[in-house]
This record gives sequence, C-alpha cells and structure tokens, in this order.
Amino acid sequence: MSDVSFNPFDPEFRKNPHPFYDRLRTEEPVHRTPLGFVVLTRYEDVVNTLRNNDFSRDIEVNANLPESPTRKFRRENERSKSMLNLDPPDHTRLRRLVSKSFTPSAIEKLRPRIQQLVDDALANAKRTGHLELVEELAFPVPFQVISDLLAMPTERGEELREWSQIITATLEPTTGVEELEKGQEAIAKMRPYLEEIIQHRRRNMGDDMLSSLIAVEEQGEKLNNDELMSFVILLYIAGHETTVNLIGNSVHALLTHPEQLDVMRRESCTPNMVDELLRFNGPVQHTIRTPLVDISIPVNGQEMLIKKGSLVLASLGAGNHDPSVFDNPHQLDFSRSNSNRHLAFAAGVHYCLGASLAKLETEVAVGTLVKTFKSIEFDSQPEWRDRLTIRGVSKFELNVK
Ligand code: HEM
Repeated sequence: MSDVSFNPFDPEFRKNPHPFYDRLRTEEPVHRTPLGFVVLTRYEDVVNTLRNNDFSRDIEVNANLPESPTRKFRRENERSKSMLNLDPPDHTRLRRLVSKSFTPSAIEKLRPRIQQLVDDALANAKRTGHLELVEELAFPVPFQVISDLLAMPTERGEELREWSQIITATLEPTTGVEELEKGQEAIAKMRPYLEEIIQHRRRNMGDDMLSSLIAVEEQGEKLNNDELMSFVILLYIAGHETTVNLIGNSVHALLTHPEQLDVMRRESCTPNMVDELLRFNGPVQHTIRTPLVDISIPVNGQEMLIKKGSLVLASLGAGNHDPSVFDNPHQLDFSRSNSNRHLAFAAGVHYCLGASLAKLETEVAVGTLVKTFKSIEFDSQPEWRDRLTIRGVSKFELNVK
C-alpha cells in the first residue's frame, strides 16, 4: 500500500499537482482517497471511463453517496439539469439540438471578429508597454465572443462575471453548503436577467445562436424553457471560466519555456501548438463519473474493483502527463506528434462542445500577442486561483515591447 494520497486540501497539491499525479499513477493508479472517492490517473483508465456508457455523469441520481447537507441542498435546488449532468438518451437529445452551432466550420467564421477583438484588446498595451493579461485580453475576448454568439448585451458584464465565478466555485470537490447557497443566490440573480433577454429575443429573432435555440424549442422539439435557460447558463459560464484560463496558462507555459516561445515566434501559433498547450496545462483538471455496474480495472495483474455507485474522479491533468502516451510529459514541446490526443476537453459523449471555439480563441489571442510584441516578460509572478477543478491565473502582469 502506497502512502501517496489525493488530498485536495494540501497546499502543495494545489500549487503543483503533477508530483502527486505521477506518484499516484505509478504507485496506486486506482486510488481510494480518505474522503471515499476513487481517483484515476492513468491515461487509458481515464479515457476508458469517459467513453464507457456504464459510467454515468448524473452523480446526484446514480452515485451511492452518504446523505449530506451538500447533497440535500443540490437535490432540492436543482430545477433543470444542464446537458453536462445528463446521461444518454436525455443528453443525446439536448446535444443534438445545440451541436450544429458549434461545428468547426461554423466556428471558423468567427475568426475575423475574434482577431478584431484581440487587436483592440492589445491596443492599450502597445501604447503603455504593460499588459494585465487576464483583465485586458484573456477575459474580455472570450466573454465578448460568447456574448456575441448569444446576442447578449454586455453592459452588466462585471455582475455576470461575478455570478459565473460564484457558480463555478460549486464545481470544486471541496464544495460545502455555504458555497452552494451562494451559487444558488447567483443563479437566482442570473435567471431573471437572462429570462428578460430571452423574452426580448423571442420577439426579435435574429441569426444568432440564442435565436436558433429558441427556434428549435418552437419547432416542437422539446427544449423547454428550463432546458434553454440551463444551456444558456452553461454556455455563459464556459465562455467566462475556461478559455480565460487556457489563455493565461498558455502564456505562463510559454514564458517558462522560452525556447518554445521562440518556436511559436518563428512558425506562428498553430492549432497543434494549442493542443500541446492544452495538454501541458489545460484548465479543467478532472471530471467525475459514477459506475452503473461494478467495474474492475487491472493493476499489476490484479483486478481493482470499483463498486457501482462509487464516486470516480477521472484526472484529465494526470492523463495528459502520462509518460506511457506522451514522452517526456512535463516538457512543453511543440514538435510532439501526438499532442492532439490530450484529454483537456475530456472524451466520449460529453467531449467539450466548445472545443473548436476555445481553440480558435486561444490560437488568435496567444498567436497575436506573440506576434505583436518582440519581448514579453513577467512584471511580477502571476497569482494562481485557489481552485482545483479549473486551474488558472487570476492576475498576470506583463511587460511587453
Ligand atoms: C479551454 C477551454 C475549455 C475547456 C478546457 C473545456 C473543457 C471541457 C470539458 C473537460 C468538458 C467535459 C466535462 C465532462 O465530461 O464532465 C466540457 C464540456 C462542455 N463544454 Fe467545454 N471547455 C472549454 C471551453 C468551452 C467553451 C468556450 C464552451 C462554449 C462556449 C464550452 C462548452 C461546453 C459544453 C456545452 C459542455 C458540455 C458538453 C456535454 O455535456 O455534452 N466549453 N468542456
């Protein structure tokens, strides 16, 4: 029995989870934590779990967890589950209704608009030689893009951002009732705001994504009002909370690997480079599932049983640094031939719907930053958010020339 453990409260783990992931992967790849859940760190186990329909994403219904104030609160306050928390066939139906708007070709059409937003975002830094990456580039660009897509006004951007941050805090494995209550309060404030916008759009349909989602609903397909609302909230949060961290993490990775920054300067930012940045430090560190039947996973010739209803945390971050798939995994390396096998967007039926959009935004934002400034240097060490599920920087001051 190994003495390594997955302890989300350990500050060392929060600072850098990779030494822990590495030990877990070699010493105890199917790890039972003192908190009672199972952590998977090998690439193959993570992929197999995400692709296996014997694993459910609907934890509230299918996990066999002890009753707790947190669970009770979640159950009583959930109005309509977002697609992220549903299993087929309910998930399949919702995903089919919304996926047309997210195909790579539909997303590619956004490139000129994204480029314009990035150029505008960098204009001030060109004058001053200083850039606060999160506030000036990583947040405003994805936020404006998702607002454009949904044809949402942006005047109340600050409030929306605050609500989103409170809501995503409830995704943490350490969430307690207090955070959940705050999350519900934030959703309660967000709903009437979005409701008003949806009502307005119903009367003034355009060619935006919100209008097509409403149209789907009105063609008799069953995207009811609660489902529409949950999806819009999910998109909004994804638009706020993920790409912003990918842009921040990517710039950090480049500045700490100057030889790779030089490669990007020479060759300009490519989709393959974005894949490698996602593999190296993707913002979403893990996701959860629960098996609908007993499952066994072989470890060193022994079958490790995961009982039906257990809570399983599949570590995307650990899978992305598994040396059996990625040579020298802790090295950022743009010449890697298999970066696109990364798990940063998960896998299987819940594979990130916004993957093409997130990749395009990052390619344009990071690529343009690197092209615009011959020199990019830390002004101070970035501040990392104290979060486990979505890792990223909250403040990142740069000197640019
Ligand atoms: C770097 C940025 C992003 C990362 C790393 C990311 C990551 C992920 C991951 C890991 C999942 C699957 C979670 C699971 O299986 O439990 C997911 C699902 C999802 N993502 Fe993203 N995401 C990003 C950006 C976006 C954007 C920009 C959007 C939309 C505007 C988006 C929309 C969604 C949706 C709707 C789902 C649910 C899909 C489903 O349940 O079928 N994501 N994302």
